[in-house]
Amino acid sequence: MTSRPYSIETIGIVGTGAMGRGIAQIAALAGLNVRLYDTNPAAIGAARDYLAETFAKLTEKGKLEHARALAALACVTGAQTVGELAGCDLVIEAIVENLDVKRTLFRELEAVVGDRCVLASNTSSLSITAIAAACTDPSRVVGYHFFNPVPLMKVVEVIDGLRGDPAVGDALMGLARRMGHTPVRAKDMPGFIVNHAGRGMNTEGLRIAGEGVASFADIDRIMREQAGFRLGPFELLDLTALDVSHPVMESIYHQFYEEPRFTPSPITGTRLAGGLLGRKVGEGFYRYVDGKQQVPPEAPAPTALPARVWVSRQQACARDAVLQLVAKAGVPLDEGDAPAADSLIVVTPFGLDATTAAVDENLDARRVVAIDALFPLVGAKRRTLMTTPATTRDVRDAAHALFAADGVPVTVIHDSTGFVAQRVVATIVNIGCDIAQRQIASPQDIDLAVTLGLGYPRGPLALGDALGASTILTILRNLSRVLGDPRYRPSPWLARRAQLGLSLTQGDAADASTQGSQQ
Ligand code: NAI
Repeated sequence: MTSRPYSIETIGIVGTGAMGRGIAQIAALAGLNVRLYDTNPAAIGAARDYLAETFAKLTEKGKLEHARALAALACVTGAQTVGELAGCDLVIEAIVENLDVKRTLFRELEAVVGDRCVLASNTSSLSITAIAAACTDPSRVVGYHFFNPVPLMKVVEVIDGLRGDPAVGDALMGLARRMGHTPVRAKDMPGFIVNHAGRGMNTEGLRIAGEGVASFADIDRIMREQAGFRLGPFELLDLTALDVSHPVMESIYHQFYEEPRFTPSPITGTRLAGGLLGRKVGEGFYRYVDGKQQVPPEAPAPTALPARVWVSRQQACARDAVLQLVAKAGVPLDEGDAPAADSLIVVTPFGLDATTAAVDENLDARRVVAIDALFPLVGAKRRTLMTTPATTRDVRDAAHALFAADGVPVTVIHDSTGFVAQRVVATIVNIGCDIAQRQIASPQDIDLAVTLGLGYPRGPLALGDALGASTILTILRNLSRVLGDPRYRPSPWLARRAQLGLSLTQGDAADASTQGSQQ
């Protein structure tokens, strides 16, 4: 049976707080009729005032024509009761995040709206299927998960409940495009796409800090300048605030039945209890003075170069890159099969700590320094070095001077299995692959949702492809071997595609459409 398409011209928005008014703004600008309802009548007036001010500001800045602003505002009316939403084609709920309260509202809505009205929830953490189960007709209930602030965050997740009619989701995909947003389609699973994919950066960053590998600021610098992310994990946590992100970390972990990939950290629980919530209270992982983040300065790089350098032959590409830097710094190369007694020893492991790399290659750990070669070393914005617990201060400083000789900042960290960038990036890619493996969304939608929803430079699957799926697999296998922690077990999606040399963005070949497979 094919269902009739849904036509949406009039929408009701229930809950006119931060999210409801944002959705109202893009809907009104798209020419839809918008009816606002909130149990707090003052919130409806406040939302209309907010829209009037926002449209006025946009007009002043030349971003919106005056006539269009007036027309959009005229489309927005208030409703005194739920009953006044009777004529809506779609009602979007953005009320308090509580399953019982949402279920009660959906039952109330069902009693007043027509039988072709779509009922959508903007929930970020509740099951759409569970909300829909309260309704007589669960087929018209759907998730429509926008991000804050709605007009700027141009992506929306459309979530099909288990009993959802696909035509309902299709209608909301079309509506999102009409409102200038990019829709992505997801199954009803905890965290949907974006909040699921976002686990990697925060939990791995916290784990690294928890192991005493590096300071919060150093971890952020590495993720920003070496790995190319807009924000490091601690800047991001400060922005979101721990009263929001800590419960989300716990909730997703428990909803996946204590999945080790999502294990939260006691660091955030303690800081939350202490009120160090983040930017909004002036103190989090950083302090904020007059809203400005206070970043502890870095010590200047030492200048005394090593007498000569021996470079591991385990990773040919990484060795070549290191040799270029050594030559540029004018430091003599030790080309012996084994290092001479006075050589600085440089290793380039993937997914190993400096200690294991030194022991595996039978090297003198006192003279070993490891360099992270996952991202290009030549032309880098930052490089990361790590020491074994036996590395001497002189050796560490000589290596620091060598790799900072061309003016590129260097962060020296304590020993860490997979440095900082390797293990965070591998975790992000691995979780993205597992979202694909679980068929929560298409590979394309996973990457789209993550680039638009989290602001990452690439989606997790494209990132894995760019760095080499087999390299990511090596990092994860080594992390699993050394740490014996199931957190790092590679997703089957990644392991299979890496072994076959396939792109991580590709589904199974046999499932591709004829047209697609001929291309
Ligand atoms: P908010 O607290 O700013 O606004 C909620 C509004 O709903 C308030 O005006 C309140 O009076 C009203 N309300 C509460 N119970 C109601 C009921 N039974 N009937 C009618 N109105 C009711 O909340 P916010 O931040 O706008 O979030 C709303 C929803 O959107 C939540 O489900 C939240 O999980 C979800 N969401 C929030 C995001 C955010 O960053 N704030 C991001 C994505 C989703």
